[in-house]
Amino acid sequence: MSSLTQSSAWLALQTHQRAIAQMHLLELFEQDTRRFEKFTLFFNDILLDYTKQPITDRTITLLLDLAHQQGLADWIARLFAGEKINSTENRAALHSALRGKQAVMVDGVDVMPEIKRVMRQMECFSIAVRSGGKKGYSGKNFTDIVNIGIGGSDLGPFMVTEALKPYASPHLTVHFVSNVDGTQLFETLQSLDPARTLFIIASKTFLTQETITNARSARTWFLTHGGNEDNIASHFVAVSANRAAVKEFGIDPDNMFMLWDWVGGRYSLWSAIGLPIALAIGMDNFYSLLAGANEMDEHFMTVPLEKNLPVILGLIGIWQINFWGITAHAILPYDQSLHRFPAFLQQLEMESNGKRVTRAGEIVDYSTSPVVWGEPGTNGQHAFYQLLHQGTQTIAADFLAPCQSHHMIGTHHHLLLANFFAQTEALMRGKTADEVRVELESQGVANDLLEKAIPHRVFPGNHPTTSILFKKLDPKTLGSLIALYEHKVFVQSVIWNINPFDQWGVELGKQLASKILTELNQDAVITSHDVSTNGLINYFKTNQ
Ligand code: F6P
Repeated sequence: MSSLTQSSAWLALQTHQRAIAQMHLLELFEQDTRRFEKFTLFFNDILLDYTKQPITDRTITLLLDLAHQQGLADWIARLFAGEKINSTENRAALHSALRGKQAVMVDGVDVMPEIKRVMRQMECFSIAVRSGGKKGYSGKNFTDIVNIGIGGSDLGPFMVTEALKPYASPHLTVHFVSNVDGTQLFETLQSLDPARTLFIIASKTFLTQETITNARSARTWFLTHGGNEDNIASHFVAVSANRAAVKEFGIDPDNMFMLWDWVGGRYSLWSAIGLPIALAIGMDNFYSLLAGANEMDEHFMTVPLEKNLPVILGLIGIWQINFWGITAHAILPYDQSLHRFPAFLQQLEMESNGKRVTRAGEIVDYSTSPVVWGEPGTNGQHAFYQLLHQGTQTIAADFLAPCQSHHMIGTHHHLLLANFFAQTEALMRGKTADEVRVELESQGVANDLLEKAIPHRVFPGNHPTTSILFKKLDPKTLGSLIALYEHKVFVQSVIWNINPFDQWGVELGKQLASKILTELNQDAVITSHDVSTNGLINYFKTNQ
């Protein structure tokens, strides 16, 4: 048994959970009419409502005890101070510095001047491209940007670029290529004019096989469709922490935007990895995105834990996962602009907290990250909400929506939000057999049919949801929302005593893939693996 699961705060939460386990959420609402005042928090234009969680005043008190016991306030201070809390890689995790204003020291050096230098480089570059001052090899303005990167070098910039389309230049289209499946690169490039296309090769390590393979093929396409070697410098830029590899690839280090080992891939959209965002929406809007995140950082650092949005969001997750046994968490934006937000959070949460050992390397005896997935709201309703309402497992869900749409067409936004409110209410309230009976009787359904129909139409309800409403999805609000989730993930890692900033779990597959790649190029029948893997490889080889 770990010291965490034996600790007084943990045991107190277990006892409390048993005491309220049989209470339906509806009962909690009936018992306390002030739930909405008690269990909502505000931050600028953002409202966080966690009233539809199985909580009472005592739950929050006990969760805060757990946070204190695990030294959360101290860990928050260590994060922002630039301590090397990513212990397995001996690195700081300073994404907050990228949107910060004050000096932060790493190895005795203030990182702020370097951050500002790269921001200015991004600013000059994006102004030049957007204004047409920087042109392609034939003297034409750039019309298309292709970002080649994967994981954190794709998901963050892609999500934000999609989310902030209303702020984007109509003269530039930003494309994202991540998959090593040549189909994505082919389909992206087929309609592009090389003379008007700018490539960003985004890879912190500049070693990622998928990205380097796509980058090489993009260069070949460029050279075989009109460009020549001399034009590479004006059509290819790199974002990386690996200057030597960028140079070796053939990109002039003058065309490189630096990032640093203290920026984790999934936390990097605030760095030059955000270059496609800056090109799309302009540097002023990019600065607003940073400002929104910085305000959330200040809030996270300074506001008492009980009023602190990331802390409460993180603790609610701990309550669901560790005390109610919930293993899946849906992210449901009622905003089409946020259609990549679930995918972004999937990496943020699952790569950060999908861990099975503590910081000290001991195997945990409690659950860590849930499975995170999701879809824009009403699409999800017509796909997987059936399971949310009547399946056999309880799924936690975050509902997110703007009060104002960028595109107020007819009644669309009211319809959208009516669905948001209805779903959270239905998930909480459910529908009893008696209610179904009354409904069917009023429809004149005959008695024998009625009794058979009832079980299929009962909704148990009692499903926990959190609602996040914000005024409008502008750059600043989006920055705050992303930082909210980044810090939520950190809060949970502190409670679980795990390192959220490494990702050793992605390595084994990469190692095996490079061995198998060699085998795919050999004529011999492969026998070096288990019978299943051998069989699959050999079937592929005879059928390719
Ligand atoms: O999936 C593993 C990973 O290392 C992620 O953490 C990272 O975001 C992604 O690969 C891409 O890495 P890079 O930016 O170095 O190409």
